[in-house]
Formats: sequence, structure tokens, C-alpha cells
Amino acid sequence: MASQVCKSASRAARSLLSASKASRFHSQGRAVGAAAAVSLSAKGPLLFSNYGRGGSGSGSASSWISGALALPAAAYMFQDQEVHAAELERTFIAIKPDGVQRGLISEIISRFERKGYKLVGIKVVIPSKEFAKQHYHDLKERPFFDGLCDFLSSGPVIAMVWEGQGVITYGRKLIGATDPQKSEPGTIRGDLAVVVGRNIIHGSDGPETAKDEIKLWFKPEELVRFSSTAEKWIYGSN
Ligand code: RTP
Ligand code: MG
Repeated sequence: MASQVCKSASRAARSLLSASKASRFHSQGRAVGAAAAVSLSAKGPLLFSNYGRGGSGSGSASSWISGALALPAAAYMFQDQEVHAAELERTFIAIKPDGVQRGLISEIISRFERKGYKLVGIKVVIPSKEFAKQHYHDLKERPFFDGLCDFLSSGPVIAMVWEGQGVITYGRKLIGATDPQKSEPGTIRGDLAVVVGRNIIHGSDGPETAKDEIKLWFKPEELVRFSSTAEKWIYGSN
């Protein structure tokens, strides 16, 4: 009985919190998204600029929050941690010049999107060789380093930040093994690439790398925070 009450309270907290977070993130997203649109449009092409548009940021958030505070503190804290875990893990993904030239942008984006991950930053960039060297600095002793940096800076790259629970590790699973000869069918490299030197996509290999690469490729104001209506169907426990 007690666990039943706790479960219901947790559910109620969950819906109250997602309502309050939705309106809070919509209003933040609108401001941040607009800032990203301004700063990026001054520098180059922008594919997606404002995910927060159409949100209904309103003063009603405070009444939702005060309602939520009346619920058991444990349920509130549990829900808050759960929501944050889903929202805050981010990884850096880049479609390399070969993927762009081969017309695979939408194919690659759709695999992350269909999984349930959220795109929170995207831009088209032609990195300089110096920039490519910074990105791949941990490989500087490898014999292919110079050629790899020439290649990365040879044309447009689609730089992206994806967000979601487990996105760093699972993003690498979606991508597949470094050498497409060894990538499983069903993975991006397994299905769409043939040789290691033209493996079409990059993904951060751990939390520290993700943090560093996001910082290298994006300014904070180029990333948006928003709540998507699909999230209540992607996340949840029974
Ligand atoms: P990435 O960083 O691009 O996501 O690739 P990864 O983690 O799967 O593999 P990593 O060891 O970091 O290698 C970076 C990129 O270097 C190229 N490479 N060439 N010629 C070779 O033997 C060789 N080995 C690696 C690949 O393009 C690889 O993605
Ligand atoms: Mg790597």
C-alpha cells in the first residue's frame, strides 16, 4: 500500500515536473536558440536555428513548481535526477567530408533521431588543418595523422551535439567499429562505408572527450536546451 502511494506520488511528480520543465526549457530555448541564430548567421550557413520556437513559456511554471513541492521530497528528488540524467548527457558527432560529399547527411541524422536522441546543436564547418590537428591531437604520433587532418579539413563537416541517456556509448554503437570492414551490418559505418580512411563519421569516445570536443567545436550559446514532446514516450519507467 505504502509503495503504491509512493509510486502514484512519483508519477504525479513526474508529470508536474515535466510540465514545469517544459515551460521553463521552452522559454530558455527560445532565448538561447535566438542567440545561436544571430551568432551563427553572421559566420556561415545554419541548418537548424531555433528549437525553442513555438514554446509557451509562461508564469504558470511557478504554480506548477509550488504544486510539485507539496509532493513527497523523495519522489521529487528521484524524478529530478532521472530527468537530468536523460537530458544532460551530450556527445559530439561529426559527419566527415566523405559523408557530406556522398549525400549521407540526412541518413546519418535520421539514425540518431529515430533512436530517440535529441539534436541540440548543428552547423556546417570547413575546419582548418590546425583545427583538425587539435581535434585529433591524441593521434598525433600515428603514421596516418597528417593525412587524416588533411582529409578532415578538405571540405564541409557537419558538426553536431546530440543529447540523451547513454548517448556517448550508444552513439558509438550506432556508428560501428572504426574499420568499416569490421563494423557490424546495421551500424552507420557497417552499412555505409568500406575503408577506414573514409569512414564518414566521428563520435566522441568517452565523457571527457565529449566535453572537450563539444567545447572545441561549439560556443555555449550555439547549443540549445529544450523539451521535446516525444520525451515522455522515450523516457519513463513502469
Ligand atoms: P573517430 O575518432 O573518427 O570517431 O574514429 P574512432 O574513434 O573510431 O577511431 P580513432 O582511433 O579515434 O581514429 C580516428 C580516425 O583515424 C582514421 N584512422 N585511420 N589508416 C588507419 O589505420 C587509420 N586508423 C584510424 C579513421 O578515419 C578514424 O576514424
Ligand atoms: Mg576517435
